[in-house]
Amino acid sequence: MIRGGQAEVNGQTVRDGSFQVREGDDVRLHGASVGNHTYQYVMLHKPAGVLTAASDRHASTVMDLLPESLLRRKVLPVGRLDKDTTGLLLLTNDGELAHRLLSPKRHVWKRYLAVVSGRLISEDVAAFENGIALSDFTSKPAGLRILSAEAEESRALVELREGKFHQVKRMFLSRGHEVLTLHRVAFGALTLPEDLSAGEWRELTGEELAALKRDDSGQTGVANG
Ligand code: URA
Repeated sequence: MIRGGQAEVNGQTVRDGSFQVREGDDVRLHGASVGNHTYQYVMLHKPAGVLTAASDRHASTVMDLLPESLLRRKVLPVGRLDKDTTGLLLLTNDGELAHRLLSPKRHVWKRYLAVVSGRLISEDVAAFENGIALSDFTSKPAGLRILSAEAEESRALVELREGKFHQVKRMFLSRGHEVLTLHRVAFGALTLPEDLSAGEWRELTGEELAALKRDDSGQTGVANG
């Protein structure tokens, strides 16, 4: 069948029986997908300047950073990072897991490194812990750990479970601090590996996937106090 031109890999007819198929390749026989029903789980180090969207007419999106083989398998971002936010973004075609990770009941912990204007103080930590009243909702208790605090600029780790639009930026702004940069370092049980540069992606390891499914996240405490 291969020699007869019935086999396709990633849309190209392959007549060489020794051709090596790689993980993620779209393999078809007589046009029908073969042995390719597994889900894909990918972590991307989102760079600044790209939208978290499946497509956009004008701007580049996170999908532009993925290879054809993954796009064909219809992976989609789980949740959203703002255009200027960098860091860990999970993408998958496992809709059930995505739904579970984002459901308000079981929202996983997310951890961000934030650089903000002005000096962060212990009252900011208490406000994050107690919940901050924003115009349309009050945030649930969140962790804030100050890493450095100067009159001009401070750095901090933030841990929260929710993921409302511009939530971290709005929480800081309500305390009088503008977010200058925001970088997500953890999503549920996943942490952004140091060797994954901005714009790069890789599949989750089996261990990472198992931990994510179990939701081994929990508040780590690194952002407390
Ligand atoms: N909170 C924000 O304000 N922006 C993000 O991108 C993520 C969380």
